[in-house]
Amino acid sequence: MVRKVIIDCDPGHDDATAIMMAGIHPDFDVLGITTVKGNQTIEKTTTNALNVCQWLGLDIPVYEGMSEPMVIAGPPTEERVHGQSGLDGPHFPSLTKKKESMHAVQYLIQTLMQADDHEITLIPTGPLTNIAMAMRLEPRIISKVKEIIMMGGSYENGNVTPAAEFNIYADAEAAYVVFNSGIHITMMGLDVTRKALCFPSVVDRMEKINNKASKLFVDMMRFFIKAQHETYGWEGAPLHDPCTVAYLINPDVFKIKECHTDIEIRSEQSYGRTNCDLFNLTDKVKNTGVAIDINTEKFWDTVEQCLKMYD
Ligand code: RIB
Ligand code: CA
Repeated sequence: MVRKVIIDCDPGHDDATAIMMAGIHPDFDVLGITTVKGNQTIEKTTTNALNVCQWLGLDIPVYEGMSEPMVIAGPPTEERVHGQSGLDGPHFPSLTKKKESMHAVQYLIQTLMQADDHEITLIPTGPLTNIAMAMRLEPRIISKVKEIIMMGGSYENGNVTPAAEFNIYADAEAAYVVFNSGIHITMMGLDVTRKALCFPSVVDRMEKINNKASKLFVDMMRFFIKAQHETYGWEGAPLHDPCTVAYLINPDVFKIKECHTDIEIRSEQSYGRTNCDLFNLTDKVKNTGVAIDINTEKFWDTVEQCLKMYD
């Protein structure tokens, strides 16, 4: 059964890899890509999404979304690990693919309102601003979403503050709206994505595929690894966002625990924390399937499987 999906993202090297995987795999019908401010400005994340689709020959419409969070100004853009463009490394030919004229939030509403109940899966890999805004503008879309498979949060430590992960911290109010929407969320948090480390040996493995996808992957990852090493001292770069697509392709890659998750929006110290009630202490509705472990061998096999599907 082909799954209808919309990818909501802030490319970003890892977002770009998620697009690369979902865009070619026969399990997915990628209806559209919506972009949001996060790793970089909305202009740059949109340009990056367009460049990735154009380079790979993916005929997927790209819709530009929110340029700022719903309420509080988010963290600075991530030049440190994604570069000035937000996707430093590859050198793309001149960009001819154009963004769609409709705003991403309107696209989400229009597409979901035309869908059957529980027909479309949302794959957010950036801040949740677009999705939350769409829910607030048109609450009837909620019943149209099959499920949300997202990258964000962590049941342990954050990466912006000790408490909070970037995608949630960047718009915690939006995350609060989405996690309280009643839609089931599968959360690929830092707890597993920090284990999806792209080491130079992985780059060498993918380079052997020798097609346009592997070239893009290699050019992106060589920059991403260098930037992560200079910023954090790591030898491998965590490939966060592709964990969402890999999970949908092969759920066995991950171990999931169902639990209730609350988003902290009032605490100064813990703003943006995903409080995952793994031990069911609150007995609240289990709105989240939290990824608590990853089979990294199966993960990289899944990434390689997708890259090999390109010409
Ligand atoms: O914290 C990691 C997340 O923030 C990833 O989605 C990365 O692309 C950035 O958006
Ligand atoms: Ca992202």
